[in-house]
Amino acid sequence: MDQIKIGKFISELRKERNMTQREFAEVLGVSDKTISKWECGNGMPEVSIMPTLCSVLGITLNELFSGTRLSRDDYILKAEENIISLVQQAENVKNNIVGGQIIGSASDVDYCVDNIHCANTEFWDTIGSEFLGSTALPSYGGFTTEDRLGLLGNLHNKRTLEIGCGNGRSIKYVHDKGAKELWGIDISPKQLKRSKIFLSSQGIKAKLICVPMEKKGEIPNNYFDLVYSVFGIGWSTDLKKTFSLIHSYLKKDGKFVFSWSHPIHKCVYEQNGKYIFGNSYFDEKWYSANMGGKEIMLSNRKLSTYINTLSESGFKIEKIIEDSDENLLKSENSEFSIKARKMPVLFVIKASKI
Ligand SMILES: C[S@@+](CC[C@H](N)C(=O)[O-])C[C@H]1O[C@@H](n2cnc3c(N)ncnc32)[C@H](O)[C@@H]1O
Repeated sequence: MDQIKIGKFISELRKERNMTQREFAEVLGVSDKTISKWECGNGMPEVSIMPTLCSVLGITLNELFSGTRLSRDDYILKAEENIISLVQQAENVKNNIVGGQIIGSASDVDYCVDNIHCANTEFWDTIGSEFLGSTALPSYGGFTTEDRLGLLGNLHNKRTLEIGCGNGRSIKYVHDKGAKELWGIDISPKQLKRSKIFLSSQGIKAKLICVPMEKKGEIPNNYFDLVYSVFGIGWSTDLKKTFSLIHSYLKKDGKFVFSWSHPIHKCVYEQNGKYIFGNSYFDEKWYSANMGGKEIMLSNRKLSTYINTLSESGFKIEKIIEDSDENLLKSENSEFSIKARKMPVLFVIKASKI
């Protein structure tokens, strides 16, 4: 199925009807960014929307999948081709695994930084905040805590910077441990606003900057004792650039500590008490998935990709944590915790600037 051809076809038909992307989006109940994404060939409309979309554009589903109007003679031939293509796609379906469960399928998307930033900012500006909670210090996410690991060291009088600071809960933790300067960056203006409100309510002053981690913001070089991130780094569209920037912000011997979902965890899901290896560990392609009705775009990088990129960016690895805290695991009896007893759900890396 040719997504670019289908996108152009949708765009032509919309324009024939003198509809703007916004008007079309309103009829379909999606955002105008979603329309722009389909029309650029980066993704297809969800199945539930397709009948309405076809009726608004005056085409059949077969014509939508073909990306063109069909004559009577071509109709059957194209229908056969499209059915085969759909079955092949269904066979190659990639799972979106969160918390040990499949929460829908994920489809590959082209690597386009603007589209990825746009979708992820929209997610974090809206319902993303509902997913926060266990991704703030002292928790590194899952069943792993700073209180047990002590990776951040003594924070008294330290200059600190959080990457993907979300609603500011980790900044408060670092403040309470005595840090002298609290900086945070995030791509989502709404997250930063929540962070600002929360920190002010606690009487905490922090310097919050709205910038993607892959771009140099107004952040000083050779300045920080600690850069940290809890479930933030994996959102980067350019790991090399991100790590190189973090390296430049740190003083010599400064520490960089971050956690992210373990890649093995994204490959394996539970089904009737058995673990199924569903996704390829080696697949680092960008994909789009639905979470709580909104789109996210991510790539599942191998552990070696993180380690090698850190090394290429001038870091020395001090420690890699894959284990969960036994006491936390024992305190919960969910599918998530049962899976966490068999394989790592996240990893934490502590590195230092050489
Ligand atoms: C799982 S949250 C972690 C937030 C934080 N640890 C907390 O719990 O409050 C990930 C954060 O990364 C931010 N983010 C996503 N992509 C980003 C990017 N490219 N650059 C900077 N921040 C990004 C999101 O807006 C979100 O606030």
